[in-house]
Amino acid sequence: MVDRLISPTAAGEDDEPLQTALRPRTLDEFIGQDAQRRRLSIALQAARQRGEALEHLLLSGPPGLGKTTLAHIVAHEMGGNLVTTSGPALERTADLVGMLTGLEHRDVFFIDEIHRMPRVVEEYLYPAMEDFKVDFIIEKGPYARAYPISVKPFTLVGATTRKGLLSSPLRERFGLNFELDFYAVPDLTLIVRRSAGLLGVDLDEDAAEEIARRSRGTPRIANRLLRRVRDFAQVQHIEHVSAMLVNEALEPLLEDADRPLSGPSGGRGRACGGYAAGDGHARGRGRAVLAVRRLPPAYAQRASGDAPGVCASAAQAAGPCVGPAAAAA
Ligand SMILES: Nc1ncnc2c1ncn2[C@@H]1O[C@H](COP(=O)(O)OP(=O)(O)OP(=O)(O)O)[C@@H](O)[C@H]1O
Ligand SMILES: [Mg+2]
Repeated sequence: MVDRLISPTAAGEDDEPLQTALRPRTLDEFIGQDAQRRRLSIALQAARQRGEALEHLLLSGPPGLGKTTLAHIVAHEMGGNLVTTSGPALERTADLVGMLTGLEHRDVFFIDEIHRMPRVVEEYLYPAMEDFKVDFIIEKGPYARAYPISVKPFTLVGATTRKGLLSSPLRERFGLNFELDFYAVPDLTLIVRRSAGLLGVDLDEDAAEEIARRSRGTPRIANRLLRRVRDFAQVQHIEHVSAMLVNEALEPLLEDADRPLSGPSGGRGRACGGYAAGDGHARGRGRAVLAVRRLPPAYAQRASGDAPGVCASAAQAAGPCVGPAAAAA
């Protein structure tokens, strides 16, 4: 129960309809990630003015930060359809060729978990990305012949939690490359308030902030905690949700590592200045590529060594943890 609640990954199909309902549809509704939002807004406006498809876009970052959401937003803002697949689903080159040739002008072709796409399929993608052409191969072996087929100008949006596993030829073919970061508490508070409005939950400002502080910088977790609070308030017949009610609803469900800190050296976890995105080993080269980024101070303060995807590998990558909480640990 606890794992499911605070895990940043999608919890399963039962989670999906609500996730979809809470997903921002336009760039204006998308909260936080200001630098990326500004860059995307300019790129979208410029592409629309020229009547062209947006350049291919690579989105990377930990689970639950908004990569799929941004793919939907790009399709919406460009007035195209979103055609979705995932790296592991593209087993054969014919699957890819079929999807590419079915695209309309300005459609968005979204490949989730793009780092898991087979290399042979990936190589078919290169001419489609560069020249909007794809080779259709007939026959096999020495009689094989390639017929180039045109593809309508489209935007490839690739999403990955492990950017280091992407080959550099693939990475370099994306004109736009955005790395999403954990959200600061004020942005998460806005996200909680927006979601509360959509779910019809009457929430104090303090209550929204309390949920935000417990969400590990991740909108997916914030929405999940909000839904648990909503359930709690409903069965207790409480109409107005206060910070106290949030504590009452969530405290029994959370581990120590997920309780908010009371002071600069509070919390039991080791302090650590960054997290590893878990990029692992670069494919085929056996070289570790670790993306170490900064957590917002509030999360860095309390990140514990065993918090999933947060501190354990960063500790190895970034050296010993420092700071007041490290001294206290
Ligand atoms: N910037 C945001 N503003 C408001 N809500 C957001 C934002 N980013 C994400 N969300 C919410 O968080 C949920 C999870 O986001 P999303 O599915 O896009 O994450 P993801 O990065 O694709 O995760 P994964 O790597 O697991 O696929 C969405 O349903 C959406 O409601
Ligand atoms: Mg996703």
